[in-house]
Amino acid sequence: MQKNTWVLFDLDGTLTRSEEGIWNCARYALERMDRPVPDNETLRKFIGPPLVWSFRNLCGMTEEEALEAQRIYRERYNTVGLLENRVYPGIRNALCRLRKAGAHLGVVTGKPAAPTGRILEHFGLDRFFGKVLCATDNKADKEQMIRAALPEDAAEAWMVGDRKYDMEGGRRAGIHTLGVTYGYGSEAELLEAGAEKLAGSPREIADILCPEAGEVPGAFLSMEGLDGSGKGTQLERLADTLDRYGFEVIRTREPGGTPIGEKIREILLDRENAAMTDETEALLYAAARAQLVREVIRPAVRSGRVILCDRFVDSSAAYQGGGRQMGIEKILEINRPAVDGTMPDLTVYLEIGHRKALERRCAASEPDRLEMEAENFHARVEEGYHRLMEMDPDRFAAVNAEGDREAIAAEIAEKVLARLLEAEH
Ligand code: TYD
Repeated sequence: MQKNTWVLFDLDGTLTRSEEGIWNCARYALERMDRPVPDNETLRKFIGPPLVWSFRNLCGMTEEEALEAQRIYRERYNTVGLLENRVYPGIRNALCRLRKAGAHLGVVTGKPAAPTGRILEHFGLDRFFGKVLCATDNKADKEQMIRAALPEDAAEAWMVGDRKYDMEGGRRAGIHTLGVTYGYGSEAELLEAGAEKLAGSPREIADILCPEAGEVPGAFLSMEGLDGSGKGTQLERLADTLDRYGFEVIRTREPGGTPIGEKIREILLDRENAAMTDETEALLYAAARAQLVREVIRPAVRSGRVILCDRFVDSSAAYQGGGRQMGIEKILEINRPAVDGTMPDLTVYLEIGHRKALERRCAASEPDRLEMEAENFHARVEEGYHRLMEMDPDRFAAVNAEGDREAIAAEIAEKVLARLLEAEH
């Protein structure tokens, strides 16, 4: 990539997937004006062109009616619709790679400045972009905006977008064009409008524009807690939030997560294996972990993905070290060759008293072999987790898991996002 290269991105359909918010707001405006709501095929076409144009040409309104519809649309959009949005998974990593290659990044969008700014800020994308050009007074001439975004000394420049307007604007402004086919425009539309290159995913944008930049690593997150801490639900919620923010999330679990690991899991959780010694158990967990680290975690993190792991070595330390009284140090020792230095960047610990956890477990399902262990076993597990947090306070984010699910999910999201967004800069 040449020095002083600029890469300009369209917003809707390229950086973010905004149909949920756009459709909800278009529907809302039409209903409020007592107009029929067109089919989904027609609603799809709202994404890209200026709103007034869409209300006139897709819904048969006069200029005056279209302006009124736009006013109502914006009323909802600026409060709710705006955040009914998702960053395409892989965008963050692509932006990191482009930046690593030395590219200057910008946004050129047909959206007005206020919502654009709020979306970029909400998703923590604002810090990537040196220039953000938005529509003014309903005018969204992409050629003009592209020209305005580029400094005079730009050596090479690309317009990346999902619709013909982006490709045509880029061509007229005399810069290179890259069409993305994961957005709202078809491959045929993009090629017809003169797209020089096509990318089928955010990852491919960086592969095409800066193949030499190499990978930017992702992150390794784990979640821990007593059985009954609500870990399953919270993992689900966190994975969705990270996906919404444009991370490529890979979920995995321990014991398991690989074909070999899942077989080991069956042995460990089988009630018939009551004769299993503590040492066997600890070594089996470590064996499954050794496989997971090498087969899944390392390759994923190396290639920019975010691993979200349901339990990791802390579970062994707390359950076998604390619960089975083998000693935390001894368990960490056993696990050293399995983990081989690969530790989570952040571990969310769902903090719940062992009695409360037991109450929840008994209400939920038939307990398995480990879950049937005596109450003081779980008291020792809880104590084990507390020791681990004292040993490595920076790695842990403890969240009180006894309250309301929504509030817990929000607190986890806040803590994890703060860490991930900070690591990007
Ligand atoms: P869990 O993920 O809670 O399973 P489930 O999906 O059935 O709720 O974990 C299964 C059990 O394995 C749990 O009781 C904790 C235990 N465990 C250990 O004792 N040591 C370990 O190293 C791991 C990973 C889990």
